[in-house]
Amino acid sequence: MRYREDVIENVRTSNDIVDVIGSYVRLKKSGSNYFGLCPFHSEKTGSFSVSPAKQMFYCFGCGEGGNVISFIMKYENYSFQEAVKYLADRANIALPEGEETEEEKREATLRSRILEANKEIAVYYYKRLRSDAGQTGLNYFRKRQLSDETIKSFGLGYSGKGGSEAVDFLKSRGFDTELIKQAGLCNISEKYGITDRFWNRVMFPIMDINSHVIGFGARVLGDGEPKYLNTPDTKVFDKSRNMYGLNVARHSKKDYRIVCEGYMDVISMHQAGFTEAVASLGTAFTSGHASLLHRYTKNVRLIYDSDGAGIKAALRAIPICDEAGLSARIVDMSPYKDPDEFIKNLGEEEFQKRLDEAENAFFFVLRMEERNHNLSDPEGRTEFLSFAAEKLADIEDGLKRDNYISSVAAKYMTNENTLKKAVVNAAVKKESGALRVRNVYSPRTEEKKDDDKTLEAEKYLLTWLSDENAIFGEIKKYLSPDDFTEGVTKKTAMLLFSQLEEGRCDPASIMDKFEDEESHKKVAGIFSTKLKAIESRAEKNRALTDLVVRIKETSLKRQADDEGHTDEEESLFKRKIRIRNAMDKLKELKIEL
Ligand code: UTP
Ligand code: MN
Repeated sequence: MRYREDVIENVRTSNDIVDVIGSYVRLKKSGSNYFGLCPFHSEKTGSFSVSPAKQMFYCFGCGEGGNVISFIMKYENYSFQEAVKYLADRANIALPEGEETEEEKREATLRSRILEANKEIAVYYYKRLRSDAGQTGLNYFRKRQLSDETIKSFGLGYSGKGGSEAVDFLKSRGFDTELIKQAGLCNISEKYGITDRFWNRVMFPIMDINSHVIGFGARVLGDGEPKYLNTPDTKVFDKSRNMYGLNVARHSKKDYRIVCEGYMDVISMHQAGFTEAVASLGTAFTSGHASLLHRYTKNVRLIYDSDGAGIKAALRAIPICDEAGLSARIVDMSPYKDPDEFIKNLGEEEFQKRLDEAENAFFFVLRMEERNHNLSDPEGRTEFLSFAAEKLADIEDGLKRDNYISSVAAKYMTNENTLKKAVVNAAVKKESGALRVRNVYSPRTEEKKDDDKTLEAEKYLLTWLSDENAIFGEIKKYLSPDDFTEGVTKKTAMLLFSQLEEGRCDPASIMDKFEDEESHKKVAGIFSTKLKAIESRAEKNRALTDLVVRIKETSLKRQADDEGHTDEEESLFKRKIRIRNAMDKLKELKIEL
């Protein structure tokens, strides 16, 4: 479902960004902007800025940025549509119905009914734990050293003795059999009819990031199979896209998140003050989990059981983290099995120490592989180092790879250059080997640096234009949006130029033309360059000239390189001449304001 542009614009302009962000972050005025502590990364000095004039926010520390809609998307983890809806409610704007199909409507109703049923039954289980019938459950939690506060904040409960108590309760609240089935809260058999799925178990409600109960984990009170019985997949319970504890952990100010396996582990860690801990829901760590976490952090500490299965699980999770751009470290819990037992025995200070000492995932992988080879034997050593070379060849970033090569060479006492050669060979052997080696080993760094400089100049100029609209008249004589770098920058330039042409400047509305958070961030960055203080008019003219020349020059070079260009009116020859002339003229360019 999509909203019309004017609807979005109306919602955005009805929610002043300083008001909205001010209700989440303490802001202080400084100059024409407001500053505060960035809610998206951990910091002690306020590099988070909000501009009332541009209706934009930008963090100079972490680069997060956008307009009021992207702030809500990012902070509440809403989709674009959800954020618009939230802000419309806030400003008392009635949104048009949108183009929802009948099917979509039915689906939405079903989902919200399941969530309602889950919520009702979670409260039922929670109350039950405190009743006479729930004594065994409460005793169980106490035995596991959970405080009343912890039990309350995680909404833990007790299911009851069995039969169809829970089902009957839900029916009395107006949920029909079909819905109870869709919510995964019952068993249906010919012999017993419809009965409770969960009985004689302690209940762990599982919440999504917005604290809606999407399902349950249910533990037997002693030994028994299965140890944890979970809600089956339902319309609202997708194990591979949700994580236990993330509704709390998302707000943690730590620059990493702890990923473990167990419900009890998350609860113990939170109780001990480590509220950055989350767990996958009785399944392996998936790329869905990784990308979910990536919204909140770029670093994870993986804690898997200290046994063979745990090591296997860690080895599987590491490449998934790599893929998602999460830097992973492995935390060692030995001699204990899991964080719950570790904290009970050694306490939170020792636990923090283990977090601080967590092993770099790459070296963890090598250390595990070491066990399969005899390193004191030349054959074994060669096998092992070939494995290392292959892993090193997988690292895409050249600088990072070189650093790892040095570290591996030092750690395993082997010659760095020999190892480097082995890495190149390994890269060649890989599938698209030849291509990759060329890309990776002879990066045209000079060219790349030039592109970066141009991008900087473009951003600088666009910020300047948005701060001082009066220079537009002069700039447009030399530059058109087509001269800007392809992608977000060019589109932003296009939109800004056309606004300035109409005599207005509204960066926040430019963001509305992009729906994804990543682009909002980029656009905010484009409009938030820190401009140098300029003393004289001559200095200003010089600075503008330099910017225009750099941007135009790159644009002309790009046109010259563009061999595939087929413009019927211009022969290749004519085009070369035109570009050459333009280049020459550029040398004499002098902007006079
Ligand atoms: P563990 O067997 O390691 O249990 O399973 P645990 O977390 O230490 O549990 P306690 O401390 O004995 O209570 C780890 C996780 O795997 C999932 C659960 O999410 C559990 O927390 N699991 C385990 C299941 O979903 N079903 C099971 O039968 C067992
Ligand atoms: Mn445990």
